[in-house]
Amino acid sequence: MLRLNRPELLMVDAMIDGEFIPETSHGRTPIDDPATGAILAEVSRCGAREAARAIDAAERAYPAWRATPPAARAAMLVRLADAIRANRDDLATLLTAEQGKPTAEAQTEVDYALGYLDYYAELAPRLDEVTALSSAQTRDEMTVVAEPIGIAVAITPWNFPIAMITRKLSPALLAGNVLIIKPAEATPLTTLAVAKLAFESGVPRGVLSVLTGDRDDATTLGDALLADPRVRKLSFTGSTSVGRALYAACAPTVKRLSLELGGNAPFLVFADADLDHAADCLIQAKFRNAGQACVAANRILVESSAHDAFVARVAARVRALRVGPGTDPETQVGPLIDGRAVEKVMRHIEDARARGATVVVGGTRSPLGANFVSPTLLTGIDSSAAMSCEETFGPVAGIARFESEAEAIRLANDTPFGLAAYVHTTDPDRIERVTRAIESGMVAVNLGVLSNAVAPFGGVKQSGLGREGGERGLEDWLVRKYLRSNVASRP
Ligand code: SIN
Repeated sequence: MLRLNRPELLMVDAMIDGEFIPETSHGRTPIDDPATGAILAEVSRCGAREAARAIDAAERAYPAWRATPPAARAAMLVRLADAIRANRDDLATLLTAEQGKPTAEAQTEVDYALGYLDYYAELAPRLDEVTALSSAQTRDEMTVVAEPIGIAVAITPWNFPIAMITRKLSPALLAGNVLIIKPAEATPLTTLAVAKLAFESGVPRGVLSVLTGDRDDATTLGDALLADPRVRKLSFTGSTSVGRALYAACAPTVKRLSLELGGNAPFLVFADADLDHAADCLIQAKFRNAGQACVAANRILVESSAHDAFVARVAARVRALRVGPGTDPETQVGPLIDGRAVEKVMRHIEDARARGATVVVGGTRSPLGANFVSPTLLTGIDSSAAMSCEETFGPVAGIARFESEAEAIRLANDTPFGLAAYVHTTDPDRIERVTRAIESGMVAVNLGVLSNAVAPFGGVKQSGLGREGGERGLEDWLVRKYLRSNVASRP
């Protein structure tokens, strides 16, 4: 069972208007531990009624929050960050329990989440800035000021349940917006604990609500939130297929949109790369969170002359990975989120094999439990294979060869997605050429990780719209209002 220093952080009720609501439209839904299948808690299932209540509460709270000075809003983020820091171990315990990731990764995710609160709290003075414009054509005074958008909905994913909350919440609330969060059906517990800490840190009633539900409620709840014209913005992180549906649902009321959608990241290894380092980076980029990341390396493309040497290095590392429940301190690769995820991963492995791929390591389910897959390395991946065309979202690395830089770039860009890309080479000219030619929102050079609170996270093509993180991420939560004033007519 869950052991928390503060057992009251295990919240199971939706939070609306500063209150945790035990009675919701559709009763309760079980949340299970992906490592064991054990039921951790039964959380509220919200529907259209709770959506309307949360929007009403947000509407009441918005004028006062919007009028609160940015420095006071930033102080609230600082208090929330302090509360999260003080409860880091409990939040990591909840993350591991509901999501499955190893404890060390869960703690790293809590620190990653804190990075957004810390960073955005520092940006408060930006909101008071007035930009003066000048033009040779007029003597009128022209200025631009920053204002919030209004009531916003954040729909967050199960793979990084706390980091994706603070990545949205920090700039949203700092900018003066009010927020309704719908966490992923599988992982609501961390979000509810953050909501409790936010409330304890002084977030006013109605400024933040959390509506939980299960897969069957997702449409009713999501539709009710998005149909309401009072909701002015949607920020969503999740799959491209769901993102498309949400995009369409926002069209009738023309909401502002931030969509962080799926990727299909290429990981290019040129023959001049430091192959040991590249192999270490691939393990990070592929096996972090058991491969369940939109930025996970998905298509590993290696220059032919370095192929065998690189495969040998990666194989040794994949064989050494320790698989197990996230609660075991030795575990490096935990379970997948659920049975559907396992089915997809196994389908990708079978499809690759049917198209001529060779299994170098793994290739099977793990005997540890229903949601475990053995870390797998395949070579000879065809460009038509399912794992070349869609995210595998699992602990499976599939390697293909390329013969030239031009072919590497062509293969890297041969996808409708463009979120992250990884390039390994020691040639500075090639770094310049390849990073510029790759069609993606983010490129890591000689690294296996790229996310950081100060950097604009986001994609191109069908990987999404907008950016989260950095100054650009604050911009996506603001309206820039233009004021023009006739100075000649002033008394
Ligand atoms: C994601 O995969 O959705 C986010 C990963 C990250 O922020 O590093």
